[in-house]
Amino acid sequence: MHTFLTGIFFWIALSVCLIGMLVRFVLYFRGLSWQLDRVAYKAHPMHGFKGAIRSIYKWMLPFGTFGWRTQPFMAIIFFGFHMGAIFVPLFLVAHNMFLESKLGFSFFTMGAGLADFLTWTTLICAFFLILRRIALPEVRIMTNFHDYLILFISLAPFITGLLARYQVGDYSFWLNLHIFCGEVLLIAIPFTKLSHVFLFFASRAQLGMDFGIKRGGMKGTKMAW
Ligand code: HEM
Ligand code: HEM
Repeated sequence: MHTFLTGIFFWIALSVCLIGMLVRFVLYFRGLSWQLDRVAYKAHPMHGFKGAIRSIYKWMLPFGTFGWRTQPFMAIIFFGFHMGAIFVPLFLVAHNMFLESKLGFSFFTMGAGLADFLTWTTLICAFFLILRRIALPEVRIMTNFHDYLILFISLAPFITGLLARYQVGDYSFWLNLHIFCGEVLLIAIPFTKLSHVFLFFASRAQLGMDFGIKRGGMKGTKMAW
């Protein structure tokens, strides 16, 4: 099982994720239409570019947007969750050793203490994200099975990773289950809302362009629209 999960299935999961996302990116950009979206994609490219970068940057800062500031508790749990969700898979020592053995390269790595801290933070914040979906009526009416499934797929590698890390019971069982869950997450990325891992940048850029040109970004100039 271990050979299968770290061999052929790993290659399948990685390829589906990367090729799938490439296809999603191409489809995203081919689907843009300035007439339908009413976004000036080609006119005033410098203002558009500035607006796009500004929007991505502001959204990645805790409390950087009005949206984050009006919901401070949500902003904290959201960022707490995502710090681990992004940094642990990329910079864990064990992951980078695996990457080095498979692909011949690795990123820089974080210490075990920080990895544990981020993992626990992700799990605790996820608990509040789930609670938010159950407790707040305005979020509950917009929540369906798919949203819980996404949360489950995202959390499974964190729970099984910790069980392997603390060697609870049968280590090799938890490790194999962990690798399987991590690979399911990779496969799910292009087909579900998890595509936001990459498409977040495309949609923020698109909206940022609109704000950078039409919606105030060119105020005071003689833009013809
Ligand atoms: C796809 C292939 C993956 C492989 C081969 C892999 C492998 C490993 C290994 C060997 C460990 C160390 C277990 C130990 O301490 O003995 C680990 C831990 C962990 N992994 Fe993965 N992993 C994968 C994917 C993922 C993904 C996608 C995530 C998260 C989204 C993830 C999150 C974690 C976490 C949270 C830990 C425990 C961190 C800690 O030490 O506190 N892994 N993984
Ligand atoms: C560059 C990387 C990422 C960015 C920029 C990003 C951004 C976002 C944004 C903007 C939201 C919507 C928040 C809202 O409801 O207003 C979101 C939700 C979510 N993200 Fe990410 N994300 C990233 C990576 C990840 C990764 C790697 C995972 C999983 C391991 C993940 C799992 C989730 C989940 C489960 C939700 C829904 C939370 C809920 O149910 O309320 N994200 N993300």
